[in-house]
Amino acid sequence: MAGYFYARIFLNNPGVRDMFPVTMDVQRARLLGAIVTAVQSVDDPDRFDEYLRSLGRDHRKFQVVPEHYEVVGAALLEAMRTFAGPEWSHEYDQAWRDAYDVIARKMLAGASADSNPAWWHAEVIAHERRSSDIAMLTVRPFQQLEYRAGQYLSVEVPKFHPRVWRTYSVANAPRTDNTMDFHVRALGAGWVSGALVRRVQAGDLLRLAAPMGTMVLDRRSTRDIVFVAGGTGLSPIKALLEDLTTFNRTRWVHVFFGARNRDDLYDLASLQEMAAAYPWLSIVPVCSEDPGWGGEEGSVTDTLSRFGPWMEHDFFVSGSPMMVRTTLRTLSQLKVPQTRIRYDAFSEH
Ligand SMILES: Cc1cc2nc3c(=O)[nH]c(=O)nc-3n(C[C@H](O)[C@H](O)[C@H](O)COP(=O)(O)OP(=O)(O)OC[C@H]3O[C@@H](n4cnc5c(N)ncnc54)[C@H](O)[C@@H]3O)c2cc1C
Ligand code: HEM
Repeated sequence: MAGYFYARIFLNNPGVRDMFPVTMDVQRARLLGAIVTAVQSVDDPDRFDEYLRSLGRDHRKFQVVPEHYEVVGAALLEAMRTFAGPEWSHEYDQAWRDAYDVIARKMLAGASADSNPAWWHAEVIAHERRSSDIAMLTVRPFQQLEYRAGQYLSVEVPKFHPRVWRTYSVANAPRTDNTMDFHVRALGAGWVSGALVRRVQAGDLLRLAAPMGTMVLDRRSTRDIVFVAGGTGLSPIKALLEDLTTFNRTRWVHVFFGARNRDDLYDLASLQEMAAAYPWLSIVPVCSEDPGWGGEEGSVTDTLSRFGPWMEHDFFVSGSPMMVRTTLRTLSQLKVPQTRIRYDAFSEH
């Protein structure tokens, strides 16, 4: 179906092909899956309204114009009709068309309300390997890029993988010199993470797109906070901690930072320095596969449930999709209300 969908788009509008990565493994084609997921979320408009608007802002990096939404919407409907078989009906057709239109309108509204550049060129000014597969990068966009602590944005490494974008969380609260840190783990044969960790050097250029995500601090809340981070999921949490240091006096903050072994607790020293400077902050590092490690052992989620009670806290969870899912399940068993939990799971891909 994905093959058919893309063929319809590229036949009807050959210029659109240049927006997509050079190599498109159909098994891994991302746009169709993303649209289907978005359509399935249409019954929960409040939750996804801001997401779709920021996705529209983000899509300005592809130079998407309103007609492209029509081309993609028509290809979606043609592909659905062709592959759904006899079950397909007028009602389905209309429902998918309506849902797609709602989403496209929100994305277009987000894009047209945005006066920022469609993307920012940024120079890598520091690159530091912290373990065999983790690097910390500092980049400086050439123009001001406003974002909130806890947000993420799309990154492209044009020198190695042009037109391939992946999302990374900014690891610091906004600074006056406009620089931004990223914590990246190279995933297997992963394209962008592999390039960012193993190939990119100081002086290289990246492109960044519009900031997204709602994992930001609610300054009106007076509740204590628990951050749960798995691996480089620490990145947005580091930004939120920096943000807290600018105003927090009264909220106790616990960070549960989990990784396989102590090498993968790649930024523990700086967290411990922060904890020494701010009495409201405590750090609990956890290793799941490090026999000689003297600290907490097991999964970060199991450790979290040994402490507590947590029913009155605000929660922020960040890490792999599996880690986030497990933590959400545990928090639900611990009776933490869903409205107090914020997360942006790292993608499955
Ligand atoms: C909101 C959000 C924030 C994020 N923030 C961060 C962050 O701060 N730091 C961070 O490190 N990551 C973060 N991520 C994850 C990041 O976006 C990427 O998903 C990750 O870096 C992998 O991208 P990639 O291009 O390297 O891998 P991809 O090329 O997309 O591959 C991903 C995985 O699939 C495997 N694979 C590749 N090709 C194939 C194939 N043909 N068949 C089967 N398997 C294959 C790879 O080996 C790898 O394991 C975040 C994700 C989200 C959604
Ligand atoms: C309802 C409309 C749309 C939605 C919900 C949507 C959503 C998304 C999302 C979430 C991704 C990222 C997927 C991932 O990396 O896992 C994506 C990728 C992409 N989108 Fe859209 N999109 C829409 C319309 C469009 C249109 C109209 C265009 C322009 C033709 C477009 C071009 C792209 C491109 C080029 C990619 C990158 C694909 C890749 O890397 O393989 N999108 N889209």
